[in-house]
Amino acid sequence: MQSLLNKKIVLGISGGIAAYKAPELARQLMQEGASVQVVMTEAAQQFVTPVTLQALTGNPVYLSQWDSTIPNNMAHIELSRSADAILIAPASADLMAKLSLGLADDLLTTLCLARDCPLLLTPAMNKQMWEHPATQRSAQRLIDDGVALLGPASGFQACGEIGMGRMLEPAEITEQVISFFQKKSLAGKKVLITAGPTFEAIDPVRGITNHSSGKMGFAIARAAVEAGAQVYLIAGPCDLPTPLDATGQIVRTNVVSAKEMHAATLGATDCDIFFAVAAVADWGIAKPAKEKIKRQGNQAPNLEFVANPDILLDIAKAAKTKAGKPHPYCVGFAAESTDLEKHADEKRKRKGIPMIVGNIGPDTFGSDLNQLIVIDSAGSKKIAKAEKLQLARQLIALVAKKI
Ligand code: C5P
Repeated sequence: MQSLLNKKIVLGISGGIAAYKAPELARQLMQEGASVQVVMTEAAQQFVTPVTLQALTGNPVYLSQWDSTIPNNMAHIELSRSADAILIAPASADLMAKLSLGLADDLLTTLCLARDCPLLLTPAMNKQMWEHPATQRSAQRLIDDGVALLGPASGFQACGEIGMGRMLEPAEITEQVISFFQKKSLAGKKVLITAGPTFEAIDPVRGITNHSSGKMGFAIARAAVEAGAQVYLIAGPCDLPTPLDATGQIVRTNVVSAKEMHAATLGATDCDIFFAVAAVADWGIAKPAKEKIKRQGNQAPNLEFVANPDILLDIAKAAKTKAGKPHPYCVGFAAESTDLEKHADEKRKRKGIPMIVGNIGPDTFGSDLNQLIVIDSAGSKKIAKAEKLQLARQLIALVAKKI
């Protein structure tokens, strides 16, 4: 799936050591389907060559407003007119100061002043430069002017120090640019999600779990952030990284057992939407052994099971009504081996929730692909086979309409 198909991005590069990552960023934007037009400041050319970027993007690289080879010599107007966004990576302290004051003394700054498209900056500088009140003033002024700042992050810096001011990695920038272009249908909303499997301990080394990878729940978390929501993600044991971590819009709590997931979820119910995507174990072991259970010949241990709490049922029971709608609006998931639609709808009614999503097909566990059927009181709607992130975006759009 290419999430930046048909998007025209002007990639501005200013003078900082992080410019060495700009060619990789250009490539990643293009892999997502964007066409990339590079504009470099004079200082940027000390760190990376225009030829590199020209070769990667397949487009001429613009360097100066005084270039007499440009047909109408109005590159600053032409480039911004046709662009969907200007992205500057890295954005140096000097460039941010100039932009915050509306200065336009080279092609890139002139282009920004003359633009009628969004401007996204990824600051990159030494930590003292970032923390300097002048830079902080510039950053605030730019935010007030509607400019989007992506990062910076904290970490190792080229100067040998550790601190705030590191440019986000090209993959993170690309994700945030994709996110920027998504419809903000959940702006200001809080979304609670359970994801992944649970693990029910038998003893300190053994336990009972299931094949859930967490991918669908994590994709919904990402799609909800892209739609502008604040997300609370309660994750069972799975190796997945937190999506769009650098935005800080996902608060993640890792849990192991169904009981822990129940406690963490019920502690965060003040949300507008609850997606119960986790494959929660129906039963746990009544008394997990404190020490490893030793093998006793061919004798199998007698394990006593107890039913786990039903998280979704409890949240749905506690839901209030706000402006005539259930709050939180609960969305359950169902994986069935037969009669998916019938069983899923029965489950929806039994749990007292307005919407349930059925996973179609047996091959969804661990896969990047899925196929869904969305069922509510008005009927059902299939969402055709696609990558889980794409399905998650469609599901978010459907739910956003319901609330
Ligand atoms: O009851 P069943 O497991 O068939 O229902 C599936 C739905 O209920 C899923 O949305 C799942 O996340 C949720 N569930 C839950 N707590 C449980 C069992 C299931 O939240 N203990």
